[in-house]
Amino acid sequence: MSLGSRRTAATSVAAAAFLVASAGAFAKSHVAAGVASGGAHPAIYSASQAAVGGKAYGANCASCHGAQLEGGVGPALSGATLNTLAKNTKLSVGDMFTFMSLQMPLNAPASLSKAQYAQIMAYILKYNGYPAGSKELTYAVATDSKVIMHSAK
Ligand code: HEC
Repeated sequence: MSLGSRRTAATSVAAAAFLVASAGAFAKSHVAAGVASGGAHPAIYSASQAAVGGKAYGANCASCHGAQLEGGVGPALSGATLNTLAKNTKLSVGDMFTFMSLQMPLNAPASLSKAQYAQIMAYILKYNGYPAGSKELTYAVATDSKVIMHSAK
């Protein structure tokens, strides 16, 4: 074996070990954030993002889901309806976000930008009692989020 290939092999083993270690840390930080307990409200969006999202929700979603997320043609996105759905299906932020970013608005699926979908998700979280934090919710983080949906309304 040449020195060059030995070095490459050692580097990739180290990289694999790092990936395993960081995956563990990631899982632990999610448990610490209350994800495993369900119904906890971790801070995963920013306040300014939610404010922008409220306007986008009003323009693109409220006609069917209600100005107070109370439902209409479409189901309620807050309150007892949401809590029952979340309880029965273990609905996560990722589940809801994936559905709405691919299927909504019903009359124009996936027509908004990734940033707009993340802003609207931030608004839905704020409305349902999740606290704002320092980081913006991104499309990628929202899609993967295991945080369980819950409404404080
Ligand atoms: C033209 C009416 C209409 C518009 C506009 C609309 N929706 Fe919907 N939405 C619906 C209907 C109807 C359903 C139920 C569809 C189903 O169960 O297959 C639904 C389902 C959903 C669900 C799943 C909720 C659940 O309880 O299963 C989410 C989340 C959602 N919409 C979010 C949004 C968001 C966010 C927007 C704006 C970007 C939006 N919708 C715009 C009609 C609409």
